[in-house]
Amino acid sequence: MTFTPKFPNFLHGGDYNPDQWLDRPDILDRDVEMMRKAHVNAVSVGIFSWARLEIEDGVYDFTWLDEVIDRLWRGGIHVVLATPSGARPAWMAQKYPEVLRVNEQYQRYHFGGRHNHCFTSPVYRRKVHEMDTRLAQRYANHPAVILWHLSNEFSGHCYCDYCQEAFRGWLKKRYGTLEALNQAWWTSFWAHRYTDWSQVEAPGPMAETSTNGMYIDWRRFATGQCKDFMMAERDAVQAINPELKVTANLMERFWDYDYFSLAEGMDVVSWDAYPMWHSGDDVARAAEFAMNHDMMRSFKDQPFLLMESTPSQVNWKPVNKLKRSGMHLLSSMQALAHGSQSVMYFQWRKGRGAAEQFHGAVVDHDGRDDTRVFKDVTSVGKALEGLRPLYDKEKSPAQACIIYDWSNWWAIDYAQTGQKGNMQYFDSVNMHYRSLWEMGVNVDFRDERECTDLSRYKLVICPMLFMLKESFAQKLRDFVENGGTLLMTYFSGVVDESGNAWLGGAPHNLIDVLGVRATELDALFPEDKQALRMTDGRSFPIHELCEIPEMHGAEGLGAYEEDFYADLPCLTRNRFGKGQAYYLAAKVEQEGLDAIYADIADELELSRAMNQELPRGVIATERGGAVFLQNYSGKAQQVVFEEKYTDMITGAAVEGEHIMPANGVMVLVK
Ligand code: GLA
Ligand code: ZN
Repeated sequence: MTFTPKFPNFLHGGDYNPDQWLDRPDILDRDVEMMRKAHVNAVSVGIFSWARLEIEDGVYDFTWLDEVIDRLWRGGIHVVLATPSGARPAWMAQKYPEVLRVNEQYQRYHFGGRHNHCFTSPVYRRKVHEMDTRLAQRYANHPAVILWHLSNEFSGHCYCDYCQEAFRGWLKKRYGTLEALNQAWWTSFWAHRYTDWSQVEAPGPMAETSTNGMYIDWRRFATGQCKDFMMAERDAVQAINPELKVTANLMERFWDYDYFSLAEGMDVVSWDAYPMWHSGDDVARAAEFAMNHDMMRSFKDQPFLLMESTPSQVNWKPVNKLKRSGMHLLSSMQALAHGSQSVMYFQWRKGRGAAEQFHGAVVDHDGRDDTRVFKDVTSVGKALEGLRPLYDKEKSPAQACIIYDWSNWWAIDYAQTGQKGNMQYFDSVNMHYRSLWEMGVNVDFRDERECTDLSRYKLVICPMLFMLKESFAQKLRDFVENGGTLLMTYFSGVVDESGNAWLGGAPHNLIDVLGVRATELDALFPEDKQALRMTDGRSFPIHELCEIPEMHGAEGLGAYEEDFYADLPCLTRNRFGKGQAYYLAAKVEQEGLDAIYADIADELELSRAMNQELPRGVIATERGGAVFLQNYSGKAQQVVFEEKYTDMITGAAVEGEHIMPANGVMVLVK
């Protein structure tokens, strides 16, 4: 898949803010020269340019942007053109206060910051539409412009009257009648029944905080409102040139919006990755970011773009550490290994002032092109050129799939039980993912939408699938019935899509498939001891959550070691139809999951990036027919290659014994 015929190649570049340097034409000229030297081929322009583009209401100035884009194009640099809706000018906030967001205390913000506009305000929508239309009329057919970058890092929600009204409208559409809403939200609790739609207000600290279903719907609504705003931007620019695709840059572990749903409204997913390397365990960090990348690839089941990353350090973490030698290339290659078609940075050149004056950039305040960072960036640019043959290779089909569902995430976090407020959905899923990632098994992510098709997988994993839709339970039944292998964990199939408990036992509609029924959920204190003892005697520690199972025909593969449920099964397997279903009743630590998945991967013969032993912390990931071999162990490692390869980065032949340096990376083809 290539997102533009204009430049079917890996993008290398980043956020470029020439509007901060309009009084320095010498610097703007030098930028293009230096970009070429750094093997940069594309930059994102205009993300925060509104105040320079519309000087006052209805008074536009595109001359500087014309020059910037032409200058870039003369230098052979492509442009990812942004719509500037992520931050609006002061005059607009002053003239039309309704564009400003209202917080949970019902206070309207004053001018300042960014990403703090109301998504519903008719004035803001009109102003954005006018701006986007003008930008598109002027640039949508410019040869340099290869993609739209809609707004920036969409986030948040608003409590203004427009948004409240829109929320009620959304609910009317979803539920039809107030009675259906009262049922879905279980409003007989604490005398919360509504008798008129006008009584319904957004949940929040000044209003309702105890109705889980309402909170979940508020998050669905917030997603919908952002999606609608984003799609209005998409429609505005594509009205001029329908061929030019749009992206919006997403974020890691982003809880506020359902990203599977938001991604439906864009053509290409992109995201901003800022891993905190060298802050302890880089293997764990790499496992987390590998999962983030795979999620981005999975949202649309197609390659994505790494829109931002730092060439050196960020400035907004408590400790802003530089990337150690090798890490810039390694971290960039990791994105490619999981399906990225770009390595882009925030930012090209450091600004002189304001909040991000010390954020890492390709070009520092000294303006030099011979710094360590500049050289690191240049080597990534060169590496990407060498990897061009991988650019549009068919993606590597995954045989394993993890279900990650946003409504489920919200439902877990709003439910008051277990490790209340600390149920760790993302991190728990990441532990399952990590076992497969370390083995070199490719993984997709899917959610509970109707469009999800599980039939292409051998293994489907449902960690903490607390909210289980009726239709998805049926999909899982069919999957196992037809020969698939399911692994489901504790705290699954407990509530329906409104967050109301299923009656008749958990996991809902899967008890016969799993051969086990979940009864009570026990939460452990950190000092409590519990473990899973496998039938072969191996023992693995358990923390946080343990469920007490009741057997309905499954075979026990491991049992609890401690407490009043000692000897009751904790890991089970059940044959059902042509397939089988595992149930894991407790939060087993990583080593336990590794052991469980090693057995399953062998049994299902899941394909791996390399069929040989690798040192711990050296990870092989297959993409497009190449093996990305990555050393996150923090030290040099000896790898003994059992087959002959060529490293596409260096062109060197690789065989036999080989020392990989700390943070080393190779892209191997046979
Ligand atoms: C985000 C934003 C950028 C910049 C970077 C800094 O990703 O999109 O504008 O603020 O963070 O890391
Ligand atoms: Zn609003």
